[in-house]
Amino acid sequence: MNELIITKPDDMHLHLRQGELLKTVIKDTEKQFARAVVMPNLNNPVMNVTLAEDYYNEIKQSCSVFEPLMTLYFTDQLTEQEIKKASASPKIIGIKLYPAGVTTNSSHGVKSIKDHYHIFEKMEKYDLPLLIHGEVNDKNIDVFDREKVFIDNYLSEITSLFPSLRIVFEHISTKDAVSFVSQSSEKIAATITPHHILMNRNDLLVGGIKPHNYCLPVLKRKIHQEAVLNAAISGNAKFFLGTDSAPHLKYEKESACGCAGVYSASNAIELYADIFEKNNALDKLEGFSSFYGADFYNLPRNKSKLKLIKQQNKILESIPSEAGEIIPFMAGKIIQWQSFDD
Ligand code: DOR
Ligand code: ZN
Repeated sequence: MNELIITKPDDMHLHLRQGELLKTVIKDTEKQFARAVVMPNLNNPVMNVTLAEDYYNEIKQSCSVFEPLMTLYFTDQLTEQEIKKASASPKIIGIKLYPAGVTTNSSHGVKSIKDHYHIFEKMEKYDLPLLIHGEVNDKNIDVFDREKVFIDNYLSEITSLFPSLRIVFEHISTKDAVSFVSQSSEKIAATITPHHILMNRNDLLVGGIKPHNYCLPVLKRKIHQEAVLNAAISGNAKFFLGTDSAPHLKYEKESACGCAGVYSASNAIELYADIFEKNNALDKLEGFSSFYGADFYNLPRNKSKLKLIKQQNKILESIPSEAGEIIPFMAGKIIQWQSFDD
């Protein structure tokens, strides 16, 4: 098969930032995706509906038909009234929980999850999805174990105490997360990034440290990479596309204390097409990228289409922006698919 026309996909986990960086990166996403779930971890986190609407308007100024699906940043300031307001807003899709300090701009995150069950209860009541960065931030827990420990210490309990709460376990990176989600109720789903499918920790650490492959959750062993790949291509509607594309400037990545984040938005759907084809699963690509996420969030499926053609496509070495240079995921590499607006 050399040509594929699919329903225009949605990116169910995306970082767009603000200002000049936003103006550059939104163009990449808009070429391929009709909608994206936009993360709230700005320098000033998007903590309430008013801030989310301001951010929505800022994004809309830089795009045309693309529709941002906004999230609020989970803090203890969330009142029942705000949750009700968020659930009634057509612009807001859910609330993103970051354990404090776990990743980029998460210092305002939650210090003690178990003290916030009253908020989960309200989210369950108003059927507002909870999006989770599922890692513990504990200096005593090895960074490679933080996702599994999060499941064991928190997620299992949350899912059993709040059985009707819809939860998206974001950017899963372990076989443990794959089995947890597979065995949970239909209320629990997960997003999968291209980088957690295409890489394992050797790609970060062998032959010299590769700062552009550094992300959180950190890349794991090959056995986990394989489990995440198999979940993505399985056709199981609990697993859907979320790139976690997270732009940082080149100098912030190539640093003694480099930022976590992989910028994949420039070629995202093409990377997934490459993966699905190499694994004889191209027939599962449309479900993963265009149906399952929309269905989970109770959104209509997109009407517009995207054409993918099998042809050599060289990923840019570098992307300029008024804010500085961005190095995309797999810079300079050749992939076999290219996308075109149909
Ligand atoms: O690698 C990551 N980058 N993981 C996250 O959880 C956050 C993101 C970012 O905002 O840069
Ligand atoms: Zn993210």
